Amino acid sequence: MKLVSTIAGLRDALRGRRVACVPTMGNLHQGHLDLARIARAHGDCVAATIFVNRLQFGPNEDFDCYPRTFDSDCRKLADCGVDVLFAPDESVLYPEPQQFFVEPPPVANQLEGEFRPGFFRGVATVVLKLFNCVQPAAAVFGKKDYQQLLIVRNMVRQFNLPIEIVAVETARTADGLALSSRNGYLSAAERAEAPRLNAVIAKACRRIRAGERNFVEIERDAVYELTQNKWQPDYVAVRNQSDLQFPAADDHKLIVLGAARLGATRLIDNLELEA
Ligand code: PAJ
Repeated sequence: MKLVSTIAGLRDALRGRRVACVPTMGNLHQGHLDLARIARAHGDCVAATIFVNRLQFGPNEDFDCYPRTFDSDCRKLADCGVDVLFAPDESVLYPEPQQFFVEPPPVANQLEGEFRPGFFRGVATVVLKLFNCVQPAAAVFGKKDYQQLLIVRNMVRQFNLPIEIVAVETARTADGLALSSRNGYLSAAERAEAPRLNAVIAKACRRIRAGERNFVEIERDAVYELTQNKWQPDYVAVRNQSDLQFPAADDHKLIVLGAARLGATRLIDNLELEA
């Protein structure tokens, strides 16, 4: 695996190749490695990126203490056959204060965007910058961050970027917890409780599949169960897969998304369903 930290070095390493890109913020787990493995099928060169993007963190969020595990990340990426790792310093990606931003559409102001103002503006801006650096033919994103995936897809379409966006299923532990770099913040007791977020979302899915269509009540019950178990839920929401709007009566491709804090750790998850 070739490690590059400058844009010129990156362009040299990738010249003439059909690149499949895997953007990450590092602290890699099996979910990230799944993306890298699937990327292989979408290009003749897999380029991963590691960059903790200050622009997408709120003032009270965990930018400074976000886990940085560069050496073990490098070994994992090399072991799973990544060809090039682009790991720029902030001074490479933001050599001057960023004054141009990608302003995402209103879908970015709900769900995650409601509780993390400016988050998707930061994500969309850095993803566009990374795409301009890597110039990939394909880029791979996880469904774990479903709203991010949707916003990136829409950005690529509306800006006519010649990039295929590939979506990958959420990797989980055996007890259902979605893998996340933030799981490392959990105490032992919180770790034991953490699968409840997925369980509550799965229960909502079962009710919808069984024919219930009172989505507001299903959302309310899910939030209640989390609250009863000492979570601080931001939302549990039943939405359309296609645009994350509240489903109409004849919408059948649905998704239940949830975000909640357990102690100091904020976790998110979602499950798609057809009903
Ligand atoms: P990060 O949280 O490091 O995630 C990088 C990629 O891994 C994203 O596409 C995310 O959806 C995917 N991912 C995370 N956990 C996963 C899991 N359990 N299963 C499958 N895929 C998973 O998302 C970001 O970084 C940043 O916002 C980024 C896009 C890199 C822009 O800074």
